[in-house]
This record gives sequence, C-alpha cells and structure tokens, in this order.
Amino acid sequence: MVFKTHKSLTQHLLKYKNQQVGFVPTMGALHSGHLSLMERAMKDCDFLVVSIFVNPTQFDNASDLDKYPRTVDDDVALIYKSFGTKNCAIYTPSVDDVYKNQTVAKNYSYDGLEHVMEGANRPGHFNGVGTILEFLFTVVQPQRAYFGEKDFQQLQIVKKLVEKLKLNIKIIGCAIKREPHGLAMSSRNERLSKEARACASFIYNSLQKAKIHFKNNSINNTIKMVETLYDQQSLLKLEYFTITSEETLIPVQRKYHKHTYRAFIVAHIDGVRLIDNMRLS
Ligand code: PAJ
Repeated sequence: MVFKTHKSLTQHLLKYKNQQVGFVPTMGALHSGHLSLMERAMKDCDFLVVSIFVNPTQFDNASDLDKYPRTVDDDVALIYKSFGTKNCAIYTPSVDDVYKNQTVAKNYSYDGLEHVMEGANRPGHFNGVGTILEFLFTVVQPQRAYFGEKDFQQLQIVKKLVEKLKLNIKIIGCAIKREPHGLAMSSRNERLSKEARACASFIYNSLQKAKIHFKNNSINNTIKMVETLYDQQSLLKLEYFTITSEETLIPVQRKYHKHTYRAFIVAHIDGVRLIDNMRLS
C-alpha cells in the first residue's frame, strides 16, 4: 500500500510490531541500485518499508533540487512488480507532512565525519540528511535500515546518527551496483546524454587504476596519478579525488600497516555531478 501521511503509515505499521521491519529510504527515480537494497531487506526481514521523498533540506543548490527526477508512479509500479504488494508499504509524503510549515534542517554533530568531502563541498547537506532520517526512523521504527556504499560517507554518518540518538536500528551497508561499463548507478545518470553516459565510465576506470597504483605507491603519488588522468581529458571535470581512512574518513598522507583505505571521487559531466568510491586495501 502507498501512504501519503506519516500518521496513516504509523497506524498501518502497528500490525507489524512483533515482526522484523526493514526500511529503505530513497529519493525515488528508482534503479537497480535501490532495488538491491530492497532485495536484501526482503531477504532479512518480514516486512519492507520504502520511503520516496526528495528531501529539500539536504540540497544546497536550488537548481539541483528542481532538476532532481521525480517519477513516483513509475517507482511504485517498479516496487510492486519486483516484490508484490503484500509484504511492503511505500511512504510518499508531501513536504508539509514531513516539515509542517518549517522546511529547515536541525543541526547535528557526527564527530567530524561531516566536515570532509560531501560535508565540506555541500554545506548543510548532512544536517538535511540527519533531519529527514531522524524523522523517518521515528515514524517507521524499523529493526534494520539499508544504505548503499555508493554514498559511503552518508552510510558512516547514518551509523553515527543512530549511535548518537541511541536508536535500536541496525544499519546495513550494501555494495555499489554498477552499469555494465562500471558507472555507479544513480538517479542522476538519467540526466546524461548517451555519449556522456559512456564517457562517465572513466570514473570507475580511474578508481580501478588508483587501486592498482596504490599497491606500490604512496598516497600522494596515487592522488597525483589520478589528477593527471583527468587533466589529460576534457569531458569530465574533477571536483575532488581523495584517499581516506575508511573509518574516520579523514584524508591521509601516509599508509599505515593494516589500515583500510578508500578512495572517493566526484566529477562533473554534462552539468551533472557524479559521485563514486572504492576500497583500496
Ligand atoms: P538516494 O540517492 O535515492 O539513495 C537511496 C539509497 O540508495 C542510498 O542508501 C544510496 O546509497 C543507495 N544507492 C544509490 N545508488 C546506489 C547504487 N548504485 N548501488 C547501491 N546503492 C545505491 O541517499 C539518498 O537517497 C538520501 O540521502 C536519503 C538517504 C534517502 C535521505 O534523503
């Protein structure tokens, strides 16, 4: 069933109080990446809740919010086709249902995770994410919630949010789903021309090259190598490429034995901002 208000959803979910409820929050324009989270939730849990809501407070740029694809009817049809109607509820609220008359974000501290990469480049973004997720977690009260490693920083921040708010929700990270040529699936890919889409697989290739290079070279040298790759072509514009410790997300200068490192990248093509990441070691 589709619920447009949090009150009607809460009412419906009373039936599942003693069951395992899995939750997948999304902003819609669903693709196989989103579906892979739902599949995992369906496997682990008795009942699935999916939310579809383009959350205004996490956009730092009005035109990005305007351009964000909205395809709710298709999304609902895709969920029903993939999982049937019986064991899932879909929540598609209006902005008013979530924010009443005050569409503003609360302030959160995530112990520094919010100051780097997406936090530094998109001011207020993770306050918006925290605000909507605190609201959704309170309404849905799931045992488990599923997030993609595609937004790895978001995943770490959500784990921190749940810890700080002392919510009894297990946050589960799911692998990045990619298109056949390696481009990470994203709702934003729909805005790319056919040529740009083909070209954007360069992002994945550059991460793979970084992973190989990283084995025998320093962090700084790996960063330089990737920056040079982008300098040598004109279609993709590199916003940032950084290597961090996977746990703290703090950019690192030198390698320490047994640490896990991850590379993060943002590049622009055709006016679209694309994000990706890969574990290096
Ligand atoms: P959205 O971009 O719609 O993504 C919803 C979930 O799908 C996120 O957890 C995201 O990491 C995951 N996802 C997206 N593309 C993926 C891919 N290619 N492979 C695996 N998982 C993928 O992220 C958001 O929405 C919002 O910030 C939200 C958490 C819903 C809060 O508004």
